[in-house]
Amino acid sequence: MSSLKPINVGLLGIGTVGGGTWEVLNRNQEEITRRAGRGIVIAKVADKDTERAKKITGGKVAVTADANEVVTDPNIDIVIELIGGYTVAKDFVLKAIANGKHVVTANKALLATHGNEIFAAAQKKGVMVAFEAAVAGGIPIIKALREGLTANRIEWIAGIINGTSNFILSEMRDKGLAFADVLKEAQTLGYAEADPTFDIEGIDAAHKLTIMSAIAFGIPMQFDKAYTEGISKLTREDIQYAEQLGYRIKLLGITRRTPEGIELRVHPTLIPAKRLIANVEGVMNAVLVKGDAVGATMYYGAGAGSLPTASAVVADLVDITRLHTADPENRVPHLAFQPDQLAATLILPMDEVTTSYYLRLRVADQPGVLADITRILADGQISIDAMVQKEPSEGEDQVDIIMLTHKTREKQVNAAIARIEALPVVKSKVTRIRLEELA
Ligand code: HSE
Repeated sequence: MSSLKPINVGLLGIGTVGGGTWEVLNRNQEEITRRAGRGIVIAKVADKDTERAKKITGGKVAVTADANEVVTDPNIDIVIELIGGYTVAKDFVLKAIANGKHVVTANKALLATHGNEIFAAAQKKGVMVAFEAAVAGGIPIIKALREGLTANRIEWIAGIINGTSNFILSEMRDKGLAFADVLKEAQTLGYAEADPTFDIEGIDAAHKLTIMSAIAFGIPMQFDKAYTEGISKLTREDIQYAEQLGYRIKLLGITRRTPEGIELRVHPTLIPAKRLIANVEGVMNAVLVKGDAVGATMYYGAGAGSLPTASAVVADLVDITRLHTADPENRVPHLAFQPDQLAATLILPMDEVTTSYYLRLRVADQPGVLADITRILADGQISIDAMVQKEPSEGEDQVDIIMLTHKTREKQVNAAIARIEALPVVKSKVTRIRLEELA
């Protein structure tokens, strides 16, 4: 075994992921040391709940309620930030960097919104900020994008990167339940937070997508330019209609390089049911990456949870342990591209994105209605790929029509929808869900 003394780690937050990190480091200590070349030891833990921290660590390390004691401790080499949120976490991460500590964080919200500032500070100080756990939990997608696929020009990424939403969509489809009922179930099972907004409105997914987009295309973090639409307005009817047409609806994060700019968008998406990624169910995550040389590769696994996320945190600890004596310029750049090589490529506004659409509307069942609608679509240069008219229910004089379009620019679809909704024979708002073949 190595004669080097162990590297000392300070842990900020010993909740679900912190507890998992403690467990994995202890359980696999011997293998981890053989891999890292020296021991990795949590030497100090900061948590507001000191009793819980003492219970988990069994009195083996110093415990404090004050994170300052960790980020300023001269004996600590690496700080793991598992506090979450933007404010306190940001202060402690910057303070750790200022004190010359390397940082490991699972905090996607922090990196997506303040990553540029944090990486610049780390660069200046010559320390590493590692964040494998911030995207898709235990799936080593950061490692894959930043190193494994480094030969490729990345073309696009499409990911199921929020387990809570995926669980809700799976249950709605399997059991024919309404969104609100499944959300309650997800909360009871402890998947969704008491305030589930970040999960169900696509914000958590957009944070993760922003990080992947930056390292795939060599651009700064630009969460403020991400288009974000969640699943809270999806109906079981749309899920069933999509199914009948051979599609599944998933909350996808999509980032794509186009000649006009980079797409950065999270929204419910119809994808062909036969695609592997369409069959990712429950709380699982999957990320599909298209590189020009390798083609499509897919990464699947647990996107959350104590031990899976700890797996990513500990992998970062091992990386840092191996590299911390290397010259900063010989390390893997934070955003995969050399810091002076980041590009100011435009993020495409959603209006300019081109994709296909699922449109559902309720109309009066009378002659000429379809002609009116298809005329509006034709005027907008929108080509119809498939159309289904549902049987009216007994005694009803209105029917549901579903149309799938070929690829069209979003602003043209929006304009057509406004005109269609103004027709007197159209009895509902038009439900519009984007569709991607992911071929
Ligand atoms: N809340 C996230 C999810 C897990 O549901 O996938 C942590 O990123």
